Amino acid sequence: MSTTKIAPSLLAADFGNLQRDVEMVNQSEADWHHIDVMDGVFVPNISYGMPVLKSIQKHATKPLDVHLMIVDPDRYIKAFADLGANVLSVHYEACNHLHRSLQAIKAEGMKAGVAINPHTNISLLEDTIKEIDLVCLMSVNPGFGGQSFIENTFEKVRSLKELINNKRAKTLIEIDGGVTSKNAKALVEAGADVLVAGSFVFKSDNPTQTIHELKEIAG
Ligand code: DX5
Ligand code: ZN
Repeated sequence: MSTTKIAPSLLAADFGNLQRDVEMVNQSEADWHHIDVMDGVFVPNISYGMPVLKSIQKHATKPLDVHLMIVDPDRYIKAFADLGANVLSVHYEACNHLHRSLQAIKAEGMKAGVAINPHTNISLLEDTIKEIDLVCLMSVNPGFGGQSFIENTFEKVRSLKELINNKRAKTLIEIDGGVTSKNAKALVEAGADVLVAGSFVFKSDNPTQTIHELKEIAG
């Protein structure tokens, strides 16, 4: 039985055919819709915000996994809950009071996620891991789709898995950036529970089939 979740990132979708691409994900074997919100301040790119998420939500039938790459995310926790986010991830590097942000996300009925940049050490999550439902390990520097996977991620997945086990936490490990059929299996073996894939899915000839392949490989 398959346990690894696949979350196609709509950042790589065709925005002129957003409904079509959301429906493709609905009908595929994917588990979640991964939604990247960028503010042009925390990361050097602007993706989309609330009105677009509202349109996505109207058509999506699977859980919405929202990844906020924005400064001061606390200001928008309620807004994303109202837009139907199921998992809301804030960046470790964007939060002055991470513990408080996690409580606020959970108080709105969402799963609380923390995304960490490639330069951020896993040990910084030691004191909050039990409060975190999902850690989104960035395997590229956030801001753009289509970048190459940073190999050091494998080591980070293993350290994070060890931390989760040592603390008896139930945190899921999500890998975001440069995921392909080449690294999927090794990531799962290292401890990954959720694989985000943007370009690899949407730039392929048959995205539904690519999702199926990822699902098969990840197991
Ligand atoms: C990058 C985003 C990713 C991105 C992944 O900042 O967080 O979710 O869409 O895209 P690929 O799979 O193309 O690296
Ligand atoms: Zn993302």
